[in-house]
Amino acid sequence: MATRIRSDIELKLVETAIDTLPGGEFGNGVPDIVVREGHGGRVWDESGNEYVDFLLGSGPMLVGHSHPQVLDAAQAQLVKGTTFFANNRQGIELAREIVAAVPCAEKVRFVSTGTEADAYAMRAARAFRKRDKILKFEGGYHGMSDYALISLAPKRPGNFPQGVPDSAGIPRSVQSEMLVAPFNDIETAQALIREHHDDLAGVILEPFQRLLPPVPGFLEALRETTSEYGIPLIFDEVVTGFRLAYGGAQECFGVMPDLCTLGKVIGGGFPLAAIAGRADIMAHFDRNLVGDEGFLTQIGTLSGNPIAAAAGLATLEILKRPGSYERLFRTGQDLMDALTELLKRSGLPAQVVGMPPVFDVVFASGTMKDHRDTLRGDAEMLKRFNSLLRERGILKGHSKYYVSLAHTPEDVRHTIDAWASALEELSKTVEHKNRHPKPL
Ligand SMILES: Cc1ncc(COP(=O)(O)O)c(C=O)c1O
Repeated sequence: MATRIRSDIELKLVETAIDTLPGGEFGNGVPDIVVREGHGGRVWDESGNEYVDFLLGSGPMLVGHSHPQVLDAAQAQLVKGTTFFANNRQGIELAREIVAAVPCAEKVRFVSTGTEADAYAMRAARAFRKRDKILKFEGGYHGMSDYALISLAPKRPGNFPQGVPDSAGIPRSVQSEMLVAPFNDIETAQALIREHHDDLAGVILEPFQRLLPPVPGFLEALRETTSEYGIPLIFDEVVTGFRLAYGGAQECFGVMPDLCTLGKVIGGGFPLAAIAGRADIMAHFDRNLVGDEGFLTQIGTLSGNPIAAAAGLATLEILKRPGSYERLFRTGQDLMDALTELLKRSGLPAQVVGMPPVFDVVFASGTMKDHRDTLRGDAEMLKRFNSLLRERGILKGHSKYYVSLAHTPEDVRHTIDAWASALEELSKTVEHKNRHPKPL
């Protein structure tokens, strides 16, 4: 299979990036590629190499890059002005669409990033409950706020419910405001909620945590126990919103939270995110409804940006077409099945984890139901596999394949060929003690 060429232009850009950016990158962990453009399910780097793109801008490009309808919508707004810091038609119409689509959404507040949305959702829960502590799940990603970085992905996890900060620079005091539970462990989560209910402002989770689907009954149990104590349940749907179903994970799994956060898809590739949920909790964003005492301060220069909202609306229109989700899930399932089969044949201890729109390989055997299980995955082997795939024209993040509506059967075939070739190479170079190769 063809290997990547590196043009002088791209190498110079990488050099400049190393000189000017910490780690030579924007903070996304992919410093050795400079992407020039993207169309449909493919991207090209500055050297002209073409890739089937499963990075998808870390998820927003669910309908593919440069979709003509999304570009038209954004361009139509672009010539009328780019930001107003005022209500605008696109933003209002997008809010209406979110309220219509997402089961828990009675009101919507726009921000620019998922990080902000999650931080404000936690603040809204605190304002509503007049308590401070938030329960989250180990390995759950809720953006980059101090609170969210407690036990984001600890390599050396502590004892539940004590969290550990996953970054330098987090005030010690934040640690004590967060309680941490193991994902998919109904008994522990319920016991912690019962024990701490009087201190808890809210419970936040990714209903599909990173790659881990919820075990049957887990979300329902959380819903039941939080409702019992009147504690707001927050679904972080920054990834799952409009991806697992038009109404997000709450529609897909049939469990309705009190609040949710949205991002990625709703901005159509532009910076836009939202907090949505029950009117009585969202009322804290409205001083007229809750007075000075209950008012939650939230202002953002670009919140509800009209270009992002126009692109988001166009994206949702495409997703709403009959058959969109069936096609997305079919493409993802075909990929997952093919990868599972190839891994089996390779004899490497590995499995495919996730759901058709978002999945990856974990190089470990055994059940994968929480963050600690995923730590058994051989991270070095995954890194090597990703790098072999990059050489074979597949672009993805560290630990996720994002599938899009734009991925074609040809993209799927190319990906499967690349997997087969990369696994062959990986098997040659990796001596694994548990390896039992089967004939190809
Ligand atoms: C589940 C989840 N929540 C929140 C965020 C943060 O979103 P943003 O990167 O827009 O701040 C992410 C980002 O990937 C995410 O995956």
